[in-house]
Amino acid sequence: MNITIIGTGYVGLVTGTCFSEMGNEVYCVDVIEEKIESLKQGIIPIYEPGLEELIKHNYNNGNLHFTTDLFEGLSDSQLCFIAVGTPMGEDGSADLRYVRQVAKQIGQTITQDIIVVDKSTVPVGTADEVETIINKELDKRNKNYKVTVVSNPEFLKEGTAVNDFMHPERVIVGTDDDSAAEIMKELYDPFTKNHERMIIMDVRSAEMTKYASNSMLANRISFMNEMANICDKIGANIDNVRRGMGSDSRIGHSFLYPGCGYGGSCFPKDVTALIKTAQDNGLNPVLLKSVEEVNHNQKYYLINKIINIFGEDLSGLTFALWGLAFKPETDDMREASSIIIVENLLKMGAKVNVYDPKAMDVAKEFYFKDLDVNYFSDKYSVLEDADALILVTEWKEFRNPNFNKIKSLLKNNIIFDGRNQYKNSYMKKLDFEYHAVGK
Ligand code: UDX
Repeated sequence: MNITIIGTGYVGLVTGTCFSEMGNEVYCVDVIEEKIESLKQGIIPIYEPGLEELIKHNYNNGNLHFTTDLFEGLSDSQLCFIAVGTPMGEDGSADLRYVRQVAKQIGQTITQDIIVVDKSTVPVGTADEVETIINKELDKRNKNYKVTVVSNPEFLKEGTAVNDFMHPERVIVGTDDDSAAEIMKELYDPFTKNHERMIIMDVRSAEMTKYASNSMLANRISFMNEMANICDKIGANIDNVRRGMGSDSRIGHSFLYPGCGYGGSCFPKDVTALIKTAQDNGLNPVLLKSVEEVNHNQKYYLINKIINIFGEDLSGLTFALWGLAFKPETDDMREASSIIIVENLLKMGAKVNVYDPKAMDVAKEFYFKDLDVNYFSDKYSVLEDADALILVTEWKEFRNPNFNKIKSLLKNNIIFDGRNQYKNSYMKKLDFEYHAVGK
C-alpha cells in the first residue's frame, strides 16, 4: 500500500517505519526541515531500541521516504495517518492546533479519494471535525474526492515501541465505513498473522478507548501508590502485598508497581484531558481527579523522606541521582519525577549530582538548562562524596550494582529508592539505611 504519515514524532516515526518494514511504500512528512534531513542521513531524533536499524534498512531499500513536501508525500497515497502532537493546552484539554492544521493541508493537497487515519490521541469527536475541515477545503477547490476519517489509536510504550507495534495485543479501528475497515484489516494483517486482533467499532468509541485505557493504567499505579503509603504507616511491605494481589487473575501482575510517580507523554496528559472532557460535559470525574492528585503527591514522596531525615535545610549536602528519564529505555523526561526531585533539592540548598544512561543530553538542553546540576558519565563516579543515593529510574544497570563500591564512594550508607529495586533484608545485611516506597 502507499501510505503517508504526517508527523515524525514518537508515534509517527515508529508507525511509518513498521509499515515500511512490511513492504508498504511509506512517506513520512514533517514540517521541520532539519529533522527530515537528519532522518535521511540516518540520524534519529529519539532513542528507541531497534528503531534506528529499521529506519536505515527501509530508507536504503526505498520503502521509506522522508520529505517536508506534503504534495510529494500524498501524491499516490491511499491512506494518510495523522500523527502530530496533541500537547496539553492551557485549560488541560488536548491542543488540537496541529491536527486541524494538517487536516486543512490534506484538503488543500489531495488529488484522489483518501482514508485519513487519526493516530494521535485526540478527544472524542475529533475524527468528525477532521472530516469537516478536509471537506470544506475540497469544496473550495470544487473537488468531491471521498474522504473517510478513521480512528486508530496507538498503544505503543516508549522503550518497547517497535516491539509493541510489531506484535500488537489489539488494534482498535473506529469506522462505520466497511471498505475502510477492509483496508485497515489488510494493512494490519501482517502484524497480527493468524490472530484476530483487530477490534472494529464506531469512531467515538475508538477515540474513547485510548483515553479510558491510559486512565485505567494510571489509575492502577495511583491506587498502588496509595496502598504503598498506607503500608508505610502500618509496617506492611507493598512488595508482598503486590505479589499477593497480582496473583488473582482478575487483578493480574502488570502495572501494579508503586514508585515515585508516573510521568511520560501520555498518562499525565491523557488523564487531564479526560477530566476536562468529563467536566465540559457537566460531570465531576472524582476518580480521575484523585488519580492525578495521588500522582502529583507521589512525585514528592522521596523529597518528603529526605526532609524527614536531613531536615529542610540541605545546604552542605550532596545528593546523587540514578536516572532522569520518566522510565528506563528512553531519553524522554516529559513529566519525569526527577524534575521535581532535582528542583526541590536545589531549592533546599543541596548540591545535585546526576547520572542517566540516555537522558542527560535532554536534561542539559531543556529541563535543567538553567539549573546548577553536575553531570557524571557513569553510575559510580556520580556517587563520590555524596551524602545519599536517590534512585529515580529503574534502568537495568541499577538492578544489581556493586554495593561495596557504592559504600566506599558514598559519605553515608543511605539509599532512597523510588522504584523499589532492592530487598529490605539484603540492604540491612549490607548495612545500608534503605528508604523505598511502601516497605
Ligand atoms: C503509556 C501506555 O502504556 C501506552 O499504552 C500508551 O500508548 C502511552 O502511554 P508510556 O508512557 O510509554 O506508555 O510508558 P509506560 O510504560 O506505560 O509507563 C508510564 C509511567 O508509569 C512511567 O513513568 C512508569 O515509571 C510508570 N509506572 C508504570 C509505574 O509507576 N508503575 C507501574 O506499575 C507501571
